[in-house]
Amino acid sequence: MTSDEIRKAYLDFFKGRGHVIVPSESLVPENDPTTLFTGSGMQPMLRYLLGESHPSGKRICDSQKCFRAQDIEEVGDNRHTTFFEMLGNWSLGDYFKKEQISWMFEFLTKVLGLYPGNIYVSVFRGNEKLKLPRDDESVGIWQEVFKEAGIKAKAVDFAEKNGMQGGRIFYYDERKNWWSRTGTPEEMPLGEPGGPDSEMFWDFGDELNIHENSPYKDKLCHINCDCGRFLEIGNNVFMEYLKTESGFSLLPQKNVDFGGGLERMVAAQNNQPDIFKTDVFNDLVSKIRELAGEIEVSAVRVFADHLRAASVCLLSL
Ligand code: SER
Repeated sequence: MTSDEIRKAYLDFFKGRGHVIVPSESLVPENDPTTLFTGSGMQPMLRYLLGESHPSGKRICDSQKCFRAQDIEEVGDNRHTTFFEMLGNWSLGDYFKKEQISWMFEFLTKVLGLYPGNIYVSVFRGNEKLKLPRDDESVGIWQEVFKEAGIKAKAVDFAEKNGMQGGRIFYYDERKNWWSRTGTPEEMPLGEPGGPDSEMFWDFGDELNIHENSPYKDKLCHINCDCGRFLEIGNNVFMEYLKTESGFSLLPQKNVDFGGGLERMVAAQNNQPDIFKTDVFNDLVSKIRELAGEIEVSAVRVFADHLRAASVCLLSL
């Protein structure tokens, strides 16, 4: 499928489940001085996640233009860009984990046709000190949907020294499986909403030897390994907490904040480990090669990303 087909399929899928499709907000956030550029689909949704009524209702989806300057040093590998399109859907105090996980699995496996055996997920391990519970509920739902697809999904606590351990669902701590605009629970300012998240990964498979040919070859591979074998294709945030002076309290409503990079979904759907070899970048990469001659792959990727990002930033002013 092409990127246009995947964007349309995603929006149609969620429209079919009662969501209103809204246009992307500007790349330069309005009334939000926290960042120079919109870095996630949830940023324009913040006040609705905190409880204000959204004019289009409780179920929203979109494709949001995003720019993450914090990822700029990562650009050059097979999957990072500064500018990207984030496909997003939100439940503003409506459905929660059960619907979100089942729908995402259905979208990935039935609409995009991804083979369930190559999908892995992560969940929040919990933090006793912060009184934030372990997300066993999401694990139960993931196990159910994998079981329906004929897969017994073993859940394991991730530990670097143990690698995959035959697991399909991995518990990670808040450095990986907590989401707020500002990072981990400790990094959040008072009044900031956040929540545990469950990320989904596409496995390009061990036969490509991506890990073995990477700088991480001497470490055990796992779904969050930086080698590029596993590609994070979406993040289900269960945004139900607010940081307060006395710790975390529950928001007035339980929200879902899903975001998935369109470019990465295209790469997974095409089973193409290099997002710069998908239709999103093909024309640009050909032109750069034509003009620059023989240059390193990573340099081509940097040119492609920065040219695209700079163009979209300029168009957004
Ligand atoms: N806000 C989450 C993210 O950016 C999910 O939309 O990953």
